[in-house]
Amino acid sequence: MSNIIKTGVIGHPISHSKSPLIHNHWIKKYGLSGEYLPIDIPCDDLKSRIEDLKNESYAGFNVTIPHKESIHELCDEIDETAAKIGAVNTVIIKDGKLLGRNTDAFGFIENIKQSAPNFSLKDKTAFVLGAGGAAKAVIYGLQQQGIKKIFICNRTRAKAENLLQHFTNLEVIDWCSNSDDYKASLSESNLLINTTALGMNGQPELPIDLKSLNKDALVSDIVYAPLITPLLESAQARGNKIITGIGMLLHQARPAFEAWYGVMPEVDEELQQKALA
Ligand code: ATR
Repeated sequence: MSNIIKTGVIGHPISHSKSPLIHNHWIKKYGLSGEYLPIDIPCDDLKSRIEDLKNESYAGFNVTIPHKESIHELCDEIDETAAKIGAVNTVIIKDGKLLGRNTDAFGFIENIKQSAPNFSLKDKTAFVLGAGGAAKAVIYGLQQQGIKKIFICNRTRAKAENLLQHFTNLEVIDWCSNSDDYKASLSESNLLINTTALGMNGQPELPIDLKSLNKDALVSDIVYAPLITPLLESAQARGNKIITGIGMLLHQARPAFEAWYGVMPEVDEELQQKALA
């Protein structure tokens, strides 16, 4: 039994995480010898519990709230993507060293590619709502695909402005959906993305009027509970193509799985159904 490849997800709390379901689905599907566990680690115990995982020969782990930023200083190396996004969601343990990566940008882009295979991001304009960690991953992903321009709109304007230090070709828009600026930017955009928690079960809806959005624009939400958020519902009702958030969650898990188990897994229909159940 000692050759089982051990992996997991660290967070606090952790019972809500869908990552065990995703990775264990793939371990079974590809007939691998492995296990992926939910690992609850309170903030104060992070350093010592990471040492335990190393001693227990873990191949690596995913990182979720509240450790996504604090894991940084415990990593021996951080790859370029994670450094640019400023958050680590995947750690590979190799020769006793922790290698930090971020696969959220990959997950976001792969979800768009799978959901809208004929849509090219090159030279397009996007409108991004939010300026937190998820927004940074989305911006990074979009720019890797050659997007021309991104409007950033966040309730706290200063946080959006802060992103100008990290990324080029951004324009900050006020959080006021009936301003002329907001409407003009929306009408110029080929893609609208919500990266805030608004629209999630238990949260208020996004204050947005889609009237000025072009009918050809894609509308994507990273929220996946509910799957069809109020934003996606209004977009769909006026004929825009929508991209739900569950795919980003599933696709972001793929490069981590590949790094630990040597197989690049597929997001199949069965996995999508399981994740939504
Ligand atoms: P994540 O890593 O998921 O992006 P985060 O870094 O905490 O999480 O960022 C949350 C984002 O959702 C932010 O853009 C936040 O806006 P503020 O910077 O103004 O806080 C946005 N957000 C959360 N609750 C919100 C609300 N009630 N109204 C508007 N924006 C909200």
